[in-house]
Amino acid sequence: MSLRVALLAAECEPWAKTGGLADVVDALARALGRLPEAGRGLAAPVDVLLPRYRSVAVPGGAVAEPPLLVPDPVGRGSVSARIVNVAAEGYRLRLVDVPEAFDRDGFYDHPDDAWRFAVFCRVALAALKRDGTPLDVLHVHDWHTGPALLDRARGEAARDPFFADMAVLLTIHNLAYHGWVPNDAIGELGLRRDDPLAGANPAGIDLLLTAIERSELANTVSPGFAAEAITPAFGMGLDPALRAKGDRFFGILNGIDPDLWDPATDPVLAARYSRTAPSGKADCRADLLTRVGFDPADHGIVVGMIGRMDPQKGFDLLADGAPELLASGARIVVQGSGHASLADPFRALAAANPARVALIERFDRAMARRVYAGADAFLMPSRFEPCGQGQMIALRFGTPPIVRRTGGLADSVLDVAEHPGEGTGFVFNEATPAALVAAVRRAARLRADAAEWSALRDRAMAVDFRWDAGPAPRYLEAYRRAAGIRLGTTR
Ligand code: GLC
Repeated sequence: MSLRVALLAAECEPWAKTGGLADVVDALARALGRLPEAGRGLAAPVDVLLPRYRSVAVPGGAVAEPPLLVPDPVGRGSVSARIVNVAAEGYRLRLVDVPEAFDRDGFYDHPDDAWRFAVFCRVALAALKRDGTPLDVLHVHDWHTGPALLDRARGEAARDPFFADMAVLLTIHNLAYHGWVPNDAIGELGLRRDDPLAGANPAGIDLLLTAIERSELANTVSPGFAAEAITPAFGMGLDPALRAKGDRFFGILNGIDPDLWDPATDPVLAARYSRTAPSGKADCRADLLTRVGFDPADHGIVVGMIGRMDPQKGFDLLADGAPELLASGARIVVQGSGHASLADPFRALAAANPARVALIERFDRAMARRVYAGADAFLMPSRFEPCGQGQMIALRFGTPPIVRRTGGLADSVLDVAEHPGEGTGFVFNEATPAALVAAVRRAARLRADAAEWSALRDRAMAVDFRWDAGPAPRYLEAYRRAAGIRLGTTR
């Protein structure tokens, strides 16, 4: 039997992205479509349902389905929606077009987010049901898709064989964002406080918690973070619910797409390079330094850091350690978008040291690749990190990562001192500027030995994080298991 699976997510690259969620949804969907026919067991291509935000440009060739009417969660009649189908590479992208909810600036942080994502989920479920083919697994991602679990459990859906047989796999990319809906807003989810679906918390409803409790299976994006997430220190209040799932909560390490991230073919780089022909990397370094206003012949170690400007990522640790790093001869290139206040210290550092600190304060895919390629080492001092993608891309680009020992970072980077002859980067323990500085200095010392450094780079570039090799088959296994749990044939 082949399974029919649909992914429901608030982001998908290249249509709508603020972070790693978008890359993962797109890359996983494509990899699922590529699994070899014989072992696939999947009715391909899979569907990915995504809100049509204002910034999503509908490509030519997209096909709009007849309008769909769904009951408005707040009980004010119905909401009219369009589903616009786009043939993406290896999957079918289905844009959920509800202008009242999504034709606005920005994806999140609107006062009626509970309603917006409740409508998204409701329309998505109605569209899948209208297709007429039974859906075996709905693969939901993060809190935005929590309302789908509420809808599956109530009203007509609860009695409808279509939904009765539909299993849900929840993937948690970020445990810090819960989708908290206080009581005065739970009406936006179509709930009243006294509804048993509203859960046990008298103050409101936590959509991520709802999804954890009501999904057949849940995973996060690395085994390391799965182990951390069930502890009070990392569980962000959800650890009891995750522990309660027992072995129905686990980790699957994300992959990256080696064709999307490939210094051997990347047209934006000043030069192409690869494991067997690595010399172009020096040109990329000189190009990066020139672009950010540094001296291209400067020999100090150039440390790159890219990410959402979010407290999670530890930009502050770098900012606080920067004076000491600069004194030791290091150069710093930071690229980030998001919380502008986290960029303030870098703005000041760059103004005071224009030839040694650069801040690229925008979301810019081309520039990010130049940083991955041109930096000598890549920094990820995250406080917590469900998986992280930057460290994997950096490895692919032969730019050894310097990471904190947490979550997926610890699962994907081997420290050179702990694994002589096998290490791929530098791992440090404490979330402190001092520990970060010590790790960068360790990297700078190793870099002084050209042979050691090029061996390290070679090992970094040899690491294989292809979706097809590991993660995609594991998701397929999880789909089978989730479907079995729903049907009562598997535990
Ligand atoms: C979130 C997590 C990050 C993970 C990404 C994709 O952004 O913070 O660690 O890599 O999701 O799963």
